[in-house]
Amino acid sequence: MAVIIKNQKQIELMREAGRILAIVHEELKEFIRPGISTLDIDRKGKAIIDRFGCIPSFLNYEGYPASICVSVNEEVVHGIPKKKRILKEGDIVSLDAGVIYKGYHSDAARTWPVGTVSKETQKLLDVTKQSFYEGIKFARAGRHLHEISRAIQKYVESNGFSVVRDLVGHGVGADLHEDPQVPNFKPIGRGILLQPGMTLAIEPMVNAGKKDVWWLDDDWTVVTKDGSKSAHYENTILITEGEPEILSIQK
Ligand code: MF3
Ligand code: CO
Repeated sequence: MAVIIKNQKQIELMREAGRILAIVHEELKEFIRPGISTLDIDRKGKAIIDRFGCIPSFLNYEGYPASICVSVNEEVVHGIPKKKRILKEGDIVSLDAGVIYKGYHSDAARTWPVGTVSKETQKLLDVTKQSFYEGIKFARAGRHLHEISRAIQKYVESNGFSVVRDLVGHGVGADLHEDPQVPNFKPIGRGILLQPGMTLAIEPMVNAGKKDVWWLDDDWTVVTKDGSKSAHYENTILITEGEPEILSIQK
């Protein structure tokens, strides 16, 4: 296992990849409404990424057939966009996207309500996003990686939801998936010591019901076993000498 520390030049490229991805998500947010298909979202996302001259990180990644992972309701992650999958009022939709800018990846996910959602569903979205922020309180040089994981899990579970165990966050850089793995639950051990120049994709996946998931027959779409809704929130961050820098949000 080798964690790649990025130099200033590489960090600049990752900042730009993150800045562009933040705009992709802002524009997609405005596009979400009842009546559109999940394929419409993929097409729109691809067009925005093209406009910046970037490459969608996920397109053809290990055979994934689209640019944006679009996961509705009980779909946790890696939903495949489809013409016939139409969003309706009260749904939630997770959009996971990545862009490659001059050889460097950014990776980020948001979960949006479609029209008005129930109070409990809104709480799921809020807790999922906040769990990321609880986690990155520990994303500092000198801390251990699993302090992030533990903070995410603690916050989610104290709010009555569960964290998915079968998928984790990861290092990100010239490759979409680099070491280390970043679990959203506390594994055995402290994890690596965090150092300035590390770039991580931290991505809590939170189920309203039980933590268990399985894969659909398409071999991509991950769904909750109990059919409960699931939300995903992710950003690419940089470990610095001080506060972590979130590369994939608009500043
Ligand atoms: N954010 C996801 C991840 O970190 C996206 C990968 S989807 C894939 O794994 F299609 F590219 F596999
Ligand atoms: Co990721």
